Amino acid sequence: MSLPRRSFLRHAALGAAGLGLARGADAALPEFTAARPEPFWEAVRALYPLEAGFSYFNTGSLGSTPTPVLERVAEVTRRLQAKAEHGHAQFTGARADVARFLGADPAEVAFVRNATEANATVAAGLPLRAGDEVIFESHAHPGGSFPWLQAARGRGVVVRTFEPDPRSAAVNLDRITALCGPRTRVIQLSHITAPTGITLPARAVADLCRTRGIWFHLDAAQSAGMVPVDFAALGCDSLAVSGHKWIGGPLETGVLCVRRARQEELAPPLVGAYSGDLDANGRFALSAGAVRYEYGTRNVATALGLAEAMRLQERIGRERIAARGRQLAAQARAGLAALPGVEILSPEPGELAAAMVTFRTARIPHDRLFGLLLRERGIRTRPVTEENLNALRVSTHLCNSPAQVDALVAAVGEFLRREA
Ligand SMILES: Cc1ncc(COP(=O)(O)O)c(C=O)c1O
Repeated sequence: MSLPRRSFLRHAALGAAGLGLARGADAALPEFTAARPEPFWEAVRALYPLEAGFSYFNTGSLGSTPTPVLERVAEVTRRLQAKAEHGHAQFTGARADVARFLGADPAEVAFVRNATEANATVAAGLPLRAGDEVIFESHAHPGGSFPWLQAARGRGVVVRTFEPDPRSAAVNLDRITALCGPRTRVIQLSHITAPTGITLPARAVADLCRTRGIWFHLDAAQSAGMVPVDFAALGCDSLAVSGHKWIGGPLETGVLCVRRARQEELAPPLVGAYSGDLDANGRFALSAGAVRYEYGTRNVATALGLAEAMRLQERIGRERIAARGRQLAAQARAGLAALPGVEILSPEPGELAAAMVTFRTARIPHDRLFGLLLRERGIRTRPVTEENLNALRVSTHLCNSPAQVDALVAAVGEFLRREA
């Protein structure tokens, strides 16, 4: 039987898994050579279970999970279910892997369900009073803004927002600094913004917060797994991570990192088994470390799947992944920008750019263009309605190829000619 290369690689990976050979993050990859990188990237792409002929450009919403990660989750689930065990002890190993990947101490890592839960834990757990202020960008995803809007409704916290500039980190830092006042208690930034992929100046804001005694919470939902994210080096007090986007972890995985020295200031809004214990006198005390933000029975199979996804990225090379994503985005950006009547909303290639390109055209309503791409070409983008941008976002990651980017640009060009 002869198989096309892509499905051959996929079948090879599955077969090896069945034999217990190159399983999980150990799945065989050819050596990367800078002069001829595409065979390497094709082998990486073959690890994704996406249908042939379908171009998935929506990792910014939900990542496709590589087959070795899915297999790891299934294998752990089956093993535990054979004796109906929860396997909670295995969180220790997963926590160590996640900590290494994120540049954190294991005692700074809490497993949560998604980035929203990490953001909401910070918004609900900090001891803020009516009139205390929080700053974040006007482009914040609902998973970042709603927890604070709820704190505003319920506790009188005052929300101040700035519009992120796609051209200049200095302008963004100035806009944030201008909003800081005596009642500013928290600054939250998306490390990379969701609607248009602007990289915000996290390290500079960490320094600003340090000098002013402000809590700095970084929402890394769009950055972790797209670019290397190092909790210690970033200098934030807390970090929200989505496991199921760029990292390629299983659905409903996320991480909250909280700096050791500041954990006493952030109360867990919900507690239960594992978040604390009773001492000999029956007094309740929180657990040492970020495990205090976890409670109740959890699915260790998905936590181990997340760790597997992280190991796979480490094997592929994290800087290499970041460069690949940027390169594909730059290709998409250049192609789309060259089409008549297309406006690009994302930063130019450089310091502020990410593996995402958001574009619009006055000639075709964005929702119509979204539908045409999906129905007629099997190309999945993401409509951007935030702030009335009425645009489409293209996320470029390991499941994409330069040929897919070319096909996307060609399709937009064709629809523009046909529909306008
Ligand atoms: C910046 C940002 N924060 C939070 C979220 C919510 O992520 P999750 O689905 O993991 O809760 C998203 C999702 O797109 C996002 O882009």
